[in-house]
Amino acid sequence: MEALVCEKLGDPGGKMDENSPIVLSKNYPIPQLDSTTAVRVRVKATSLNYANYLQILGKYQEKPPLPFVPGSDYSGIVDAVGPNVSIFKVGDRVCSFASLGSFAQFIVADQSQLLRVPEGCDLVEAAALPVAYGTSHVALVHRARLTSSQVLLVLGAAGGVGLSAVQIGKACGAIVIAVARGFEKVGFLKSLGVDHVVDSSKEDVTMSVKDFLKARKLKGVDVLYDPVGGKPTKAALKLLNWGAQILVIGFASGEIPVIPANFALVKNWTIHGLYWGSYGIHRPGFLEDSLRELLSWMEKGLITIHISHIYSVSEANLAFCAIRDRKAIGKVMIAFDDKTSPRSKL
Ligand SMILES: NC(=O)c1ccc[n+]([C@@H]2O[C@H](COP(=O)([O-])OP(=O)(O)OC[C@H]3O[C@@H](n4cnc5c(N)ncnc54)[C@H](OP(=O)(O)O)[C@@H]3O)[C@@H](O)[C@H]2O)c1
Repeated sequence: MEALVCEKLGDPGGKMDENSPIVLSKNYPIPQLDSTTAVRVRVKATSLNYANYLQILGKYQEKPPLPFVPGSDYSGIVDAVGPNVSIFKVGDRVCSFASLGSFAQFIVADQSQLLRVPEGCDLVEAAALPVAYGTSHVALVHRARLTSSQVLLVLGAAGGVGLSAVQIGKACGAIVIAVARGFEKVGFLKSLGVDHVVDSSKEDVTMSVKDFLKARKLKGVDVLYDPVGGKPTKAALKLLNWGAQILVIGFASGEIPVIPANFALVKNWTIHGLYWGSYGIHRPGFLEDSLRELLSWMEKGLITIHISHIYSVSEANLAFCAIRDRKAIGKVMIAFDDKTSPRSKL
C-alpha cells in the first residue's frame, strides 16, 4: 500500500526529495487484523493537524521512534473484520482517530474506536471532524460549559481548531468574537455570521473587541479559546470578565504564554489545560461519545466542515506548506484514490 513515512525529523514542507524528512512508500506492508475485534479500514481521507507538522519537526510532546507513519484522524470504508466484530461489516462508512498511522491507504483499529459516518455526511469531511471538532467540543461543551448568554473569544479562528470552536460556539448560542489574519480569512468568518471578526494584520485586537463589547453593552469576554499563545494571549487577557474561563488549547505562535496567577486570583478566572488525546487514556469511551454527538450535529447541519485544501498523499509536502504558511481556512486534507492534481477549494 501507499504510506507516507517520516524517516528523519525536519520540515516536511520542502520538496519530497532525498533531503525531505517524509518519503512516499509505494509498497508499505498492509496492516493485518491484530485481534478478534479488530477492523481494517481502507482510508478515504485523513486530515492534517498542526500537531502532525510539529511531530515531524520533532517539536511535539509525543515523539515516536523513527521511522513512523504520521497521521491521526481519518475516514474510510471497512475492508476486513475480525471474527468477533459485531458492530461493523465490510463496506461500512466509518471515521476515527489514532495516535499515528493514518497517512496510509489502510489502518487497523478496534471496533470500539470506530464511529459510523451517517448517510448524507460526506466521507472526506468526516475525516476532518475528530481532532479539531472533538477538541473544541470537549473544551467548550464539557469543560467551559458554554451557554447562550456568554461571550466567546476565539484566537486563530480560521484555523482547524479555531474554526471548529467558532461553529460550536454559535451552535451553543454564544456571542462569538473571532480573531484571524488577513482579508480572506476575515471575509470567510463574516460569511458564517460570526458576531465580530477582528483582522489581526490590520487592527488592534484589544481596541476592536472593546469597541464591539461597548456597542453591545457587554462587560467582557466569558470564555477565551486559545490555540495560538504568545502575544495574542497577553492581549486577550485584558478583555476577560470576572469569573472568565481560559481554555489553553495550543501554541501555534510558537510561544507559551504566561498567565499571571495573581490576575487569576483577583479576577476569579478558571484556567483549563486541555489535551484532547489524553482523554483516550484517562476516560475510555468519552471521546467516542463526544464524536457521536458531533456526527449527529453534522448530520443535522448544526456544524459544517470547511476544507480549504485537498491533496493526494504524493503531494503531502504541499499540504504541510498550507499549514506551515497559515494558508488553511478550516481543514487541509489528504485524500486517497484521487487522481486529480492539488487544488484549493478557496
Ligand atoms: N490541546 C489539544 O488537544 C489540541 C488539539 C488540536 C490542536 N491543538 C493545537 O492547536 C493549535 C492549532 O492547531 P490547528 O490544527 O488548528 O492549526 P492550524 O489549522 O494551522 O491553525 C493555527 C492558527 O493559528 C494562527 N497563528 C497565529 N500565529 C501563528 C504562527 N506564528 N504560526 C502559525 N499559525 C499561527 C493562524 O491564524 P492566523 O494566520 O489567522 O493568525 C492559524 O490559522 C496547535 O498548536 C495545535 O497543536 C491542540
